[in-house]
Amino acid sequence: MRAKLREIAKNAIVKSTEQVELSKYSNSIYSKIYKSGMQLLIDKKFPLQINLELSRACNYDCPFCARTEAEKGTHIDVELAKKIIDEANEKAKVTVFALHMWGEPLLNPKWYEIVSYIKTSNPRNGITLTTNGFLLNSKNRQLIVDAKIDQIIVSLHTINAEEYKVRVGKDIDVEFVISNMLELAKELSSDQSLICRLFDTVDEQKKYETRLDDLRSAGIVIENDHYDNSAGLRSDWSSTESNSKRWPCYHPWLTTTITVHGDVSICCVDAKMDLKIGSVNKDTLEEIWQSELVEEMRDEHLSGKFTNVCKACEGCDTWSTKPDFFFNFQKKNRP
Ligand SMILES: C[S@@+](CC[C@H](N)C(=O)[O-])C[C@H]1O[C@@H](n2cnc3c(N)ncnc32)[C@H](O)[C@@H]1O
Ligand code: SF4
Ligand code: SF4
Repeated sequence: MRAKLREIAKNAIVKSTEQVELSKYSNSIYSKIYKSGMQLLIDKKFPLQINLELSRACNYDCPFCARTEAEKGTHIDVELAKKIIDEANEKAKVTVFALHMWGEPLLNPKWYEIVSYIKTSNPRNGITLTTNGFLLNSKNRQLIVDAKIDQIIVSLHTINAEEYKVRVGKDIDVEFVISNMLELAKELSSDQSLICRLFDTVDEQKKYETRLDDLRSAGIVIENDHYDNSAGLRSDWSSTESNSKRWPCYHPWLTTTITVHGDVSICCVDAKMDLKIGSVNKDTLEEIWQSELVEEMRDEHLSGKFTNVCKACEGCDTWSTKPDFFFNFQKKNRP
């Protein structure tokens, strides 16, 4: 039963090509069904999704990204990554590996050895890769097909050539990345999806509608995203609507993040590791996920009072990018 539910959740994550539309879930019937369904998918024995940082190096210098606030690092050790994958296979049968935190995952010279192991060691696992798209050359594209990565998200931000240079902090032609994407779209198998993540508003996108149509015609899904403040570290860039009614963040229930150093955080935007819950160099991920500290974090989120273990969550707005999946009666003494 547990493996079946994780399988359903995996498919919902790696096959999803749509941003969650928060307004949908304010309707009471929708919201009740959504909340009940999401809660069935929570697995307190082992995290459903592991965000695995393959590399902390980067070839871009995006000003909205809090990577520069994080401790310096290079690439994750292959044996450490395999140890994490082996534990997931043993304890959970189905796990989603989301390959991102800070840095560009394709810069890890051994990325294919790690990523291909996720499926060869357990074909039921899901993989989603987030990349800036610069390194999607023909060799890497073939390896992406071979590794059976379910979902590839290219963070393109904008198709406006001048604006692209500002957003990535480098003199790079956006058309170079677009052509990489168009080639990849041709080469992927039918069960792999390619998403182009844009941060421009729909109005701004109208200016390059024809080019967007080229992407759509190639089977690439356009995802409309917006900047958030990443645990309060990039407030200047946030375009997240301020929401006075705060709800518990999804992270402490659904995902955990492992850095290139083997440190584990409850959250993928925790650049300063204020929400560190352990290290896989010392403990198993199962022990870390089932620890009192993680329960205490969940309690702080349910109470809305970030006074002790989740102080870093107080000034964050990233939580609001996913709908509330708790009923009022589950929230404890909220203000
Ligand atoms: C930190 S990057 C790492 C992977 C890869 N380097 C990339 O850019 O896709 C992961 C994702 O976080 C997004 N991101 C970074 N800072 C953000 C912010 N302040 N608001 C929203 N998304 C952000 C990036 O656009 C990207 O889609
Ligand atoms: S968003 Fe991605 S590409 Fe840009 S600086 Fe951050 S890690 Fe690098
Ligand atoms: S509230 Fe923000 S900092 Fe806290 S876990 Fe959620 S996304 Fe991370």
